[in-house]
Amino acid sequence: MKTPTLDLIEEHSGIMLMLSVMKKVTEKLRAGEEVSEEHLNKILEFLTNFADKCHHGKEEDMLFPEMVKNPANQGLVTELLDEHATARVYIKNISAALVNYAPGNSEATTIAENMEKYIVLLTEHVRKENGDLFPIANKELSEETQKQMEERFEKFEQEVIGVGKHEEYHGWLDELKQFYLD
Ligand SMILES: [Fe+2]
Ligand SMILES: [Fe+2]
Repeated sequence: MKTPTLDLIEEHSGIMLMLSVMKKVTEKLRAGEEVSEEHLNKILEFLTNFADKCHHGKEEDMLFPEMVKNPANQGLVTELLDEHATARVYIKNISAALVNYAPGNSEATTIAENMEKYIVLLTEHVRKENGDLFPIANKELSEETQKQMEERFEKFEQEVIGVGKHEEYHGWLDELKQFYLD
């Protein structure tokens, strides 16, 4: 069975791939080139449901509360929670600007700016979790705790994003990767 941190690391890979797609998208937006609204909507839904609701949800509802049982981890967890909150602000700004987006207009710039900030924030955030937090979790959480957490993760995923949605999002990732990165 997968461990909770491996599950989250796998999701981080999906998020990092989306960040590479977003980098290309920001370049197009900055150059005043047209970016398909379908692609922008898919990126937004991925950030909202996959990265925030599902992934950050697993961390906030299940992993972090277990980690802060050791007070030594409180500082790092608070930092990570603040970063989730900041990421939500960027997503909200992208979502609001998307309504009136047209190539080269001020909303295009707002979307690009917020995507750029999101990319910088999440790159550092993922580095901190993979490099600092998860090794501590693997060491401090008992095998039994990890097993129960992974079961709760799977249940949470089905409840929050629904059966099959996870696969659909990976399909979108492949499609966007082919379009922007291959
Ligand atoms: Fe996180
Ligand atoms: Fe994470």
